[in-house]
Amino acid sequence: MAVIKAAILGFGTVGQGIYHILNEKREELREKLGVELEVAKIVVRDTSRERVPGTQHLLTDNIDDVFAEKGMQVVFEAIVNEEPAFSYLQRAIEHKCHVITANKVMFAKRGIELQELAKKNGVFVGYEATVAGGVPIIKTMKNILLVNDVSRIQGILNGTTNYMLTKMRQEGWSYDQALAEAQRLGYAEADPFNDVSGQDAFKKLMILSDLAFGEQPAWSEVEVIGIDTLTLDDIKAANEKGLRYRHVAEVEKNAEGQIIGKVAPMLVNAEHPLFPIDDVFNAVSMETNYIGTLTVTGPGAGMYPTASVMVEDYAEIIGKRAGFVVSI
Ligand code: NDP
Ligand code: HSE
Repeated sequence: MAVIKAAILGFGTVGQGIYHILNEKREELREKLGVELEVAKIVVRDTSRERVPGTQHLLTDNIDDVFAEKGMQVVFEAIVNEEPAFSYLQRAIEHKCHVITANKVMFAKRGIELQELAKKNGVFVGYEATVAGGVPIIKTMKNILLVNDVSRIQGILNGTTNYMLTKMRQEGWSYDQALAEAQRLGYAEADPFNDVSGQDAFKKLMILSDLAFGEQPAWSEVEVIGIDTLTLDDIKAANEKGLRYRHVAEVEKNAEGQIIGKVAPMLVNAEHPLFPIDDVFNAVSMETNYIGTLTVTGPGAGMYPTASVMVEDYAEIIGKRAGFVVSI
């Protein structure tokens, strides 16, 4: 049986999740895809720490080791920030590797460039995990766009802040306590300022805008307000009135064809579709011309939901390459 070699760039919450799922589903994936996947390299900064027993020999801090490995065909990327992630994936594509990323900071800015490069090199880019964790919003939107136009997207795109708002409301936790717990659970970014300031939701919104409208609004014109502007008292006062704060990201194409985006806390009442979306859940509503409004919801962050959609991307890519439809 053919063996495909893969590398995992980054071995924190998401990278370890990919490794665990690939191991747990090894036989099923082999049967369904007709190929064996071998994780041959794992790239980290600090190679002295074995995060998962039995992986020490796979660790490297040198990306050249990935491309020196014969038969390398798939690169999973779960590191942080635009660089070196973009340069690593650019090299991977030029090396004819399929790439699968969770890195929205990089992808919001350089996603189109990577996809064009991949097209030229005859490989695929999977980026389901860049938006809304385990919610299959990219796949869903790609399918919808085959027939429908999307005119507006509204949603909760950050799991950390939705979790924090929920715990502050339900348990009376302080802002700091709720953030610390979100970090412990692996929901928050390496720098949680990105979550609480709205920057993380903003990057995800830009990826959705690219997909839905083929363009993004000028970043400087998008108002981005985080939940760091809210206090526990604000949340309690809203709750007493039957209202809930949600951190909402929205983008629309107006009648003049302009793309307008905004990210900010919003007070919603019990009639609003985002009212029941609690904990680490995300929800994305799309307004379309034929279907009407469609909302997809599910866990928006965390090791397994995120890693799972990345392994799905892998299965889909290998299935496409082999010319068959994979049903998992
Ligand atoms: P972690 O902080 O848990 O892990 C990051 C990993 O990347 C670490 O292993 C770190 O190495 C490695 N790394 C960072 N910089 C470099 C570098 N320059 N070169 C090599 N390795 C590097 O992050 P997460 O796993 O939480 O997130 C990874 C990516 O996935 C991020 O882009 C994040 O936005 C995205 N994401 C995260 C989700 C989540 O729920 N956590 C959900 C969806 C997307 P070392 O261990 O040596 O420091
Ligand atoms: N920190 C991000 C969140 C991870 O909480 O939504 C998922 O992208």
